[in-house]
Amino acid sequence: MEVSVSGLCGIVVAALALFFMLMVLIVTYAWWISPIQTHNKLKRCGFGGPTPCFPLGNIQHMKNIRAINNNDLITPLTHDIHSHVSPYFSSWQKSFGKVFVYWLGTEPFLYIADAEFLKKMSKEVEAKRWGKPSVFRDDREAMFGTGLVMVEGNDWVRHRHIVAPAFNPIHLKPMLTIMLASTNKMVQAWLSQLNSASATIDVERDIVATAGDIIARTILGIMDDDDHNATQVFRKLRALQMTLFNTNRYVGVPFGKYFNVKKTLEAYKLGKEIDELLLSIIQARMSHRSSKSKSDLLGLLLQENGDALTMRELVDECKTFFFGGHETTALSITWTLLLLAMHQDWQNQLRDEIQQLLARHNHVIDLAMLSGLTKMKWVMNEALRLYPPSPNVQRQAREDIEVKGLIVPKGTNMWIDVVAMHHDPELWGEDANEFKPERFMEDVNGGCKHKMGYLPFGFGGRMCVGRNLTFMEYKIVLTLLLSNFSFNISPTYHHSPSIMLSLRPTHGLPLILQPL
Ligand code: HEM
Repeated sequence: MEVSVSGLCGIVVAALALFFMLMVLIVTYAWWISPIQTHNKLKRCGFGGPTPCFPLGNIQHMKNIRAINNNDLITPLTHDIHSHVSPYFSSWQKSFGKVFVYWLGTEPFLYIADAEFLKKMSKEVEAKRWGKPSVFRDDREAMFGTGLVMVEGNDWVRHRHIVAPAFNPIHLKPMLTIMLASTNKMVQAWLSQLNSASATIDVERDIVATAGDIIARTILGIMDDDDHNATQVFRKLRALQMTLFNTNRYVGVPFGKYFNVKKTLEAYKLGKEIDELLLSIIQARMSHRSSKSKSDLLGLLLQENGDALTMRELVDECKTFFFGGHETTALSITWTLLLLAMHQDWQNQLRDEIQQLLARHNHVIDLAMLSGLTKMKWVMNEALRLYPPSPNVQRQAREDIEVKGLIVPKGTNMWIDVVAMHHDPELWGEDANEFKPERFMEDVNGGCKHKMGYLPFGFGGRMCVGRNLTFMEYKIVLTLLLSNFSFNISPTYHHSPSIMLSLRPTHGLPLILQPL
């Protein structure tokens, strides 16, 4: 049978038109009809919230509220930070309460700042049945890939089973020497900078760099300053974080990635380069494993692993440790120094505690000495309450969840506002925004009226796997810093906490240091 050229063209055009119409239908359903159905379903289920507009959801609304509350600084300096860091949530809470739905583009998010609701919901779902918002999994692919923070279901069980033992306190013991060496380097640099007089130093910048140095050494076993690959990994990971979180982005909005093509390509390129560098480090380690290097996290993972994790997954775990581990810990120390600079009485009490313990332990900083730092632990808990470095926790419902007679439909993302709960007077009392480490003297939950109201490391089976490493690093760094310097607030400090994945001081933390 013969088909003329014009007939063939007609068939191709008709096929293309059909394909185009099909695509329009799919896109319209996925990005318009389906979100409207979900919105109506959530409304019928009893959840209120601001009205979304297609295609931005409530993003424009959030920007407008931020613009109205455009105070870069909190003056006078108080710890009442929630309405500053998340003005839209604090404003919506007034209208819709502590649980409501808002939209990032075409993605519904259930906002939760109600500890009892969270308790009831987490009772219904075991750890491996929780999802992580797919919209963030895609957006942060270059940072976390299939690392523990993002994996779900049986994959999460497999990863957690391999990763968790590496963070056992027994394995962390050899890392003490690394932490002492890196911190001492910073102390020496500060001492020579001060030259026995007092001066202002941006402690945030240097503490983040030191924590990066510690994590590179504890994860990858890097021993020399000049290890080119590790330095490159560190630089590129920081650049990736800036690219992803220091820009106006439209997460959840259809084609949102293409609103800023340059940044999207930059993130993709950095992600690929980091993967290649880490891959070469891991392959080198696998080809000549030495006993010396087994005590770092990568060595422990390789030991535990057999072939349970693929090479790709090992690379992603290393990236996850780096991101999950260095800035959060550095920020917990940074915010503590701000609080101690504001509260000289507590600074002196911690210094006394350190001196007494060092005297009792022959001036050696070891695990036994660190475990005696009781007041320091209260201060750490209180700093993590007022300034939680991970200011929110996210989940996604993989199936319908019934809570207090309400149905959270499958696919709903959840945004648990840790900052809001940590500052809630209904949970902590009228002094919720005050620095009072003594809250933790007799109660590990700081006297919070609900045990789900204090979540610096998350909750349930997915709670932070690296917290023991953080406790050790926090105590070592503060012990060395408080033994060598006194800290006062610099007049150049501008109090402006902001969320850039973590909760950070926007303008750094300049403090006046005086060598002791
Ligand atoms: C002050 C320091 C830290 C804070 C505030 C912090 C906070 C958190 C939070 C809030 C979560 C989410 C938990 C959840 O979803 O319920 C988490 C998970 C995680 N953290 Fe941390 N973290 C810290 C230090 C570290 C360190 C040092 C590492 C590793 C080197 C680390 C690795 C991880 C990993 C791998 C997960 C995922 C756990 C899972 O989903 O099973 N974190 N962390």
